[in-house]
Amino acid sequence: MRVLRYHPLLLGLLLAAGPAALAQKTKVKVKKTAASAAPAPAPAADLEPRITALLGQMTLEEKIGQLNQYSGREVTGPASNRKTDLLNSIRAGQVGSMLNVKGVADTRLIQAEALKSRLKIPLLFSLDVIHGYQTVFPIPLAEAASWDLAAIRESAHVAAREAAASGIHWTFAPMVDVGRDPRWGRVMEGAGEDTYLGSLIAKARVLGFQGEKLGGTDAIMACAKHFAAYGAAIAGREYNAVDVSEQQLWQTYLPPFKAAADAGVATFMNSFNTLNGVPATGNRYLQRDILKGQWQYPGFVVSDWGSIGEMVPWGYATDKADAARKALAAGSDMDMESDSYHTTLAQSIQAGKADMALLDDAVRRILRKKFELGLFDDPYRFSDEKREKQVLSDPQHRVAARDVARKSMVLLRNDNATLPLAAPRRIALVGPLAKAKRDLAGSWVVLADTAQITSVYEGLSKRAGKTAQVRYAKGCEVQGDSRAGFAAAVEAAQASDVVVLCVGETWDMSGESKSRTDIGLPGVQNELFQTLKATGKPVVVVLMAGRPLVFNQIADQADAIVYAWWPGAEGGNALADVLFGDYNPSGKLPSTFPRSVGQIPISYQLYNTGRPVTKPGDIRYKSAYIDSPNTPRYAFGHGLSYTSFKYDGLRLSQPTLTAGQAVQVQCTVTNTGKVAGEEVVQLYLRDLVASVARPLKELKDFQKISLKPGETKTLTFTIDKDKLAFYNAKLEWVAEPGDFQLMIGSASDDIRLESKLTLQ
Ligand code: BGC
Repeated sequence: MRVLRYHPLLLGLLLAAGPAALAQKTKVKVKKTAASAAPAPAPAADLEPRITALLGQMTLEEKIGQLNQYSGREVTGPASNRKTDLLNSIRAGQVGSMLNVKGVADTRLIQAEALKSRLKIPLLFSLDVIHGYQTVFPIPLAEAASWDLAAIRESAHVAAREAAASGIHWTFAPMVDVGRDPRWGRVMEGAGEDTYLGSLIAKARVLGFQGEKLGGTDAIMACAKHFAAYGAAIAGREYNAVDVSEQQLWQTYLPPFKAAADAGVATFMNSFNTLNGVPATGNRYLQRDILKGQWQYPGFVVSDWGSIGEMVPWGYATDKADAARKALAAGSDMDMESDSYHTTLAQSIQAGKADMALLDDAVRRILRKKFELGLFDDPYRFSDEKREKQVLSDPQHRVAARDVARKSMVLLRNDNATLPLAAPRRIALVGPLAKAKRDLAGSWVVLADTAQITSVYEGLSKRAGKTAQVRYAKGCEVQGDSRAGFAAAVEAAQASDVVVLCVGETWDMSGESKSRTDIGLPGVQNELFQTLKATGKPVVVVLMAGRPLVFNQIADQADAIVYAWWPGAEGGNALADVLFGDYNPSGKLPSTFPRSVGQIPISYQLYNTGRPVTKPGDIRYKSAYIDSPNTPRYAFGHGLSYTSFKYDGLRLSQPTLTAGQAVQVQCTVTNTGKVAGEEVVQLYLRDLVASVARPLKELKDFQKISLKPGETKTLTFTIDKDKLAFYNAKLEWVAEPGDFQLMIGSASDDIRLESKLTLQ
């Protein structure tokens, strides 16, 4: 159970922001918190002697204590044996960090216990602040659909600002796992299927959480997780094995981690999966050779929950002692909740079976972060009651949440300009998610206070005001087979001009441990759609979910479709902005939407194969299915607007790229419609012949631009050798001479401009 207790003090502090605050081109920037009264942390260079001096005073048990992380729910809960044990361990200096403790009051209380220990080393308080702390933002996958790096960074900044005011030092985010299997419930936590987009988002999120440098009281440590390739769990089944080639590992799965490391991410988390047979937690190649070796990563690595101990059931370690030795040797610095280091490492070291130098290295890495955060100067600098009150009630945070929520929504279809809804209108608002609140927050919320969530019903009714009439009917539940509500839904539809149908997944159907084999719409929701469609009224379908779903009938027959994901606290208002045209949708899919589960795993990075399908239907002895097209339902990068864009004037500064040079690629984009809008202009490349077969398309650059009606902008992209490079069979990053196809378009399946480019 990951949902935490709500802090009663924080109830009802937030204000909803009105639509006036949100002009089309809103750039939300939440102010920085004024420096706390505590002194700023010492410069990095001065820390090493302090770390060395402290390490020199530590006993073996105290060193191991720093590597030990426990969940703290019990400490703040009612008296229990575990509570007593935990408090004793903290006072004895046997705990380095706690997770799942939050709020100024609780963190102060527990920090005070740590300061009773012999060396008074402060604890690190950590939490899964995945998409907001007090203010719930859209789920990470939704935000990725905005392709708006500034808005994504701002979302992480707001979350950090709130968490840091509430005693938290460290979030277990961002998840930077590339995910190409929507059966895997955790796709909701990442940035989708693409390595390039995912790497930019990883960087934006790290900078959002941490700021430029740790030490500010509005920044917390970020954690790049789950190292590595967790997104490739076989068959999309949670916690499963991963088997990927070295080339795929380097080409597809590692770059977002490298981007996070380059952005200065303070910590990494390893993962539950094996990678080609070796559990990631005990994987020396990943953690010692690549991360701490080749990448020279200075931060520390935390295990995933219990994952050191889980190497025993994996059949990789005989017992906890063996698992602890293997994890330490492999570079796993902190043990989250498996109690393996705490209970066995001292003996292993005394018996000469584990290396003291590795232990010291792990301790140094953890202490360094405590110093960088300024905790040795003031262990309570993140636990300030006044700041907590002030920051958690900042109305600007709701503005930021609404901004990114509406940018995250993807208009998948819009026949006959059904949207935006013209006023005055009679609207039938139907569906199990129309009045839902908790579901809009999605999985992984810290303070699941439904009072702060704006439902679609509330958002729409408020926006409609007197100009439109909203008739509500639930229709059915998300799950279950009762059709008892269909009649009322039909009645509402018949008395209205348009139907807005809100269907999808409940908040607990995607996320950790929520793999599904059938990713269709649950229950009788599709039937409800068909019943409403049969009334002859135009039906706008709003889908809310934590993953790409399969919904073929809706895709074929709905008049308009908005994919709203789980949009967070401002979801209802953001959706009203989109449906009424106060905001012109600009989201683009960060994940391919398959036609069926049978196409999974799926991404736009297909291979031509030796037997490509060249004409639709011509599939005999071709790389195809006999019961489905190869193409997805909706392609990566797809997303419509209320306006239209014309692409023109592709020009390369030179057709050939020679050593050390870069080619400037220019094109123009014109808004040919009647309303202002934003477009994500996407640049793809294909290496036509190479020493290993390369995909048909790879995203290499994009720009999100805003255009008034009739306005034209000229865009410039730079293609250098690095953009043409890939990992060859020897795992060298090379750009091989030859021809490349350059494509610019509005989606991966909507290429508007093409050219050839040659590398000499
Ligand atoms: C998840 C991590 C999470 C941790 C702590 C694990 O089950 O895999 O992503 O950070 O729990 O809550």
